[in-house]
Amino acid sequence: MSDKIRAIGVLTGGGDAPGLNAVIRAVVRTAAGHYGWDVIGFRDGYEGLVEKHSINLEMDDVSGLLTRGGTILGTSNTANPFAWPMGEGDKKQMVDRSGEAVEYARSLGLDALACIGGDGTLSIADGFRERGLKIVGIPKTIDNDLYETDQTFGFDTAVSVATEAIDRIHSTAESHHRVMLVEVMGRNAGWLALHSGIAGGGDIILLPEIPYDIDKICEKILWRNRNNRRFSIVVVSEGAKPVGGEAVVARIVEDSPDPIRLGGVSNVVAAQIEERVDLETRVTVLGHLVRGGTPTAFDRVLATRLGSEAVHLLARGESGRMVSLKGGEISSVEISKVANRQRLVPLDHSLIRMARETGISFGD
Ligand code: F6P
Repeated sequence: MSDKIRAIGVLTGGGDAPGLNAVIRAVVRTAAGHYGWDVIGFRDGYEGLVEKHSINLEMDDVSGLLTRGGTILGTSNTANPFAWPMGEGDKKQMVDRSGEAVEYARSLGLDALACIGGDGTLSIADGFRERGLKIVGIPKTIDNDLYETDQTFGFDTAVSVATEAIDRIHSTAESHHRVMLVEVMGRNAGWLALHSGIAGGGDIILLPEIPYDIDKICEKILWRNRNNRRFSIVVVSEGAKPVGGEAVVARIVEDSPDPIRLGGVSNVVAAQIEERVDLETRVTVLGHLVRGGTPTAFDRVLATRLGSEAVHLLARGESGRMVSLKGGEISSVEISKVANRQRLVPLDHSLIRMARETGISFGD
């Protein structure tokens, strides 16, 4: 890859998030429109880099993308060129195909690669950096669990969608005097449950970081009933677990770098609540709903800022970095500082303290 940039590749990896298309649009507009570079998109994340599926991205291709959910390039949360499953059954083994991927990128004349994704995608990007590719990372995830950035794009939209759902659950909970559980994504980090729980006026919020005690949950519900609040809203992160217990696994996605998919903890908690208190309990699992659809205005702006700055970084000759949001400004950090790490909710976080002070229980 030469020093002067003439062509870059772009890919979206991991679970999708609102704002991916807005980033692709910003990358193409800045790279092709502002600098006059060629831009090549890889299909389905790193899969396209290994299986040689790519398309040219011109200015016309990104017209109308700002508001569109998903990613026009497709994505994959299983494709890892450094550990690629080959063979069937007993013969199946993980093969390192990163060399082929680098060869393919070189054969396309690419001078650098923009990788849009979360910790998994950026960790793989860091592997390519070590193999000599010029890389820039752009932080995405509805989980908001990346280090070195105040926020990832997609999170604000996910919080808004979850909050609207909790608001709607509120009125039906009140009418029927029920306990309503709303389960949101968040495998290891409870940021989405924390923010949407506070915004939606949840009475109890269960996070992966704070193991719950079912008796404490019931105490809070009964206290509310005794005090004329004849309904309760429990916002549950899919990664919530009881004291001394484990999270509820919904499925194992073989070949995925992180194969465990969670889901269903709220059904377990709801059954335990009904056993202990004489109140009807219902469950709503929001799941992928919060990942779809149009990004909020905040996410559109953030995605555009990050995508555009990623291209400027490459133009300045800076690579191996991830663009980030710090104190309202866009800056950048070494990708290696972000790779293979997850930013969990600290137990002494100001939001946890404030939530407790305003009467929210974490079931502990
Ligand atoms: O990392 C984002 C995330 O949405 C997690 O919160 C969730 O556990 C996981 O992806 C779900 O993945 P999938 O789309 O494979 O079900």
